[in-house]
Amino acid sequence: MSAEPDPFGVYLHIPFCRHRCDYCAFATWTDRDHLIVEYMRALRADVIRADLPPVSSVFVGGGTPTRVDPELLLDVLASIPVVPGAEVTVECNPDDVDDSMYAAYRAGGVTRVSIGVQSMVPTVLQGLGRAHVPANVRRAVDAVHSSGIPTFNLDLIYGAAGESLDDWWRTLDAVLALEPPHVSAYALTVEAGTPLAADTPRHPDDDDLADKYEAADDALVAAGLQNYEISNWAIPGHECRHNLLYWHQGDYVGFGSAAHSHHDGRRWWNVRTPERYISAVTGGESTEAAGETLDAETRRLEALQLTLRMRDGVPVGSFDRADVEQLDGLVEVTGDTLRLTRAGRLLANEVSLRLR
Ligand SMILES: C[S@@+](CC[C@H](N)C(=O)[O-])C[C@H]1O[C@@H](n2cnc3c(N)ncnc32)[C@H](O)[C@@H]1O
Ligand code: SF4
Repeated sequence: MSAEPDPFGVYLHIPFCRHRCDYCAFATWTDRDHLIVEYMRALRADVIRADLPPVSSVFVGGGTPTRVDPELLLDVLASIPVVPGAEVTVECNPDDVDDSMYAAYRAGGVTRVSIGVQSMVPTVLQGLGRAHVPANVRRAVDAVHSSGIPTFNLDLIYGAAGESLDDWWRTLDAVLALEPPHVSAYALTVEAGTPLAADTPRHPDDDDLADKYEAADDALVAAGLQNYEISNWAIPGHECRHNLLYWHQGDYVGFGSAAHSHHDGRRWWNVRTPERYISAVTGGESTEAAGETLDAETRRLEALQLTLRMRDGVPVGSFDRADVEQLDGLVEVTGDTLRLTRAGRLLANEVSLRLR
């Protein structure tokens, strides 16, 4: 029997948004739509010149991939060789989606969509600086079902200013009514340089975040979704294989402005603006802005941090017994495996620092 080849992923970055959410620090622009066609052509040319082997997962993220005409996006996807059964995810804004877009995605090989819901409570969405309305989320999920796209994720954010615990439960209940096979719930993070960073009264409160994390875990687990990474829950079999590749420090190549890549301990990232990316590709030059090679110790620590975040846990034999004992209540040991408890998941970074 031949062994499964190692997973290998492709990330495509789409740096266009209609509107900038005021918590967001991603490399994306609201005033560059005139570059979309040229950018997508450059993306396709860059993929073709990379002469990739068949890949096991593709993730189209942003920015807002659904801002782009599906035909342009599918042209790029068609240039990526994939292994049979590959996972192909597109991140979607619920406002942009309709039946014809998802039918086109399905015909073009998309197997998974990830919909940016954030909240199902209109006032909370406004507080986050989001433009969409909850009814569009329901329409987007209906479109997933009618298209036959096999699986989907709903992305949530908790901890916005003005979001009560009741509001968060309303979001969880409304989301679970849509029977998602996968949910990502992220604590609102204050990113430097964003309008949110400058607005201290709107910063999230740690105790509130902890209560909302526990509420999410209670609700999602009760609905049959398993927490397989701190911020991710899935019906078994619907885990995101592309994200699992990142968390296992696997190899992937990123195309597009600001996209990151990793191969065997070397990481590199592309020029940040769409203009510079287009001009590098059309000029036949490298799109790389800079890179670094991780030494063995940094790789080991990163692996610890990442794998500790996952339900599979880490072999307990890698740690000093005394270090493990002082983390009573934050970690649990079953057989040879050490895992975070739910209290530990709330303090994951601290636990990994104390275990190193
Ligand atoms: C980069 S966005 C791309 C998807 C799409 N543009 C959207 O916003 O729905 C991917 C996800 O990152 C999460 N995210 C972005 N900024 C965040 C922040 N400051 N704190 C927590 N989550 C954040 C949101 O849940 C979002 O759906
Ligand atoms: S959160 Fe999504 S839609 Fe909002 S600015 Fe960032 S990438 Fe664009």
